[in-house]
Amino acid sequence: MSQARKPLGNEMPTQDSATLRFVAPRPAYNMAAASYDGWDWQTFWRLNEVPLLLEAIGRLTNVRSILDVGIGTGYLAKCLSDLGYDVTGIDVSENMLAIARDRMGCDAKLIQGDAQRMPLFKTGFDVVLCTRVLSHIQDIEAALQGFYRALKPRGSLLISDIDAEHNYASTALPVGATSVVVETHKRSLDELEEAARSAGFDLACSHKLKAENLLWLPEDGNLSSIDRSGSRSVGYIALLAKAE
Ligand SMILES: C[S@@+](CC[C@H](N)C(=O)[O-])C[C@H]1O[C@@H](n2cnc3c(N)ncnc32)[C@H](O)[C@@H]1O
Repeated sequence: MSQARKPLGNEMPTQDSATLRFVAPRPAYNMAAASYDGWDWQTFWRLNEVPLLLEAIGRLTNVRSILDVGIGTGYLAKCLSDLGYDVTGIDVSENMLAIARDRMGCDAKLIQGDAQRMPLFKTGFDVVLCTRVLSHIQDIEAALQGFYRALKPRGSLLISDIDAEHNYASTALPVGATSVVVETHKRSLDELEEAARSAGFDLACSHKLKAENLLWLPEDGNLSSIDRSGSRSVGYIALLAKAE
């Protein structure tokens, strides 16, 4: 395991990625877990992305069971569980899962595992949710095939991610007053759609998070990598349907 040599702050750095030392997701998120919920970017995603994800799930019919892959500290999963959905979470980081368990309660269904080697479930899920996780995953074909197997026939896959066109080279996660640079694989929505199609999914709809349609944008110049002209999106959300 290697560590970032100097603090990079809470921004996603644009610094030449060749000068950075990347840390694999599991140790990186284990180090960052305690600081994750206080990160500026978490405020950004919670205010801009979570309402759209909840709305997208709310519009689907007959949804009861949801598998949240890369559940993190469980903020969205707790919102869904409070709405009455039966949520199961998977994450590669035991420290992120420990915070999710504190948030969701000791009865929460949480599994430590790698999205590239998805476990087999006896009963399929109505929805697989995967928010800002695939950009840490090298083998998304394996992950998407695992999501396909985990879904019921005609189930839905809801994915969000950082857009490849967003001005960043990698993700610097906060670790107290310093940071750790986690392995990042930048992909466009088109690349995601192509990989998902190969795994047996059809794109139902998608949405790009751009300055013009954000629900919240800090005014104080914080999160300066966001393109405020709106020509480049920060992230995207894609709803995919399991083909029959
Ligand atoms: C950016 S966080 C997103 C957490 C949560 N989905 C959210 O929206 O706040 C990425 C999460 O994915 C997890 N993760 C990264 N690679 C993973 C993998 N291969 N399998 C499972 N989880 C992974 C990390 O541990 C971390 O909790």
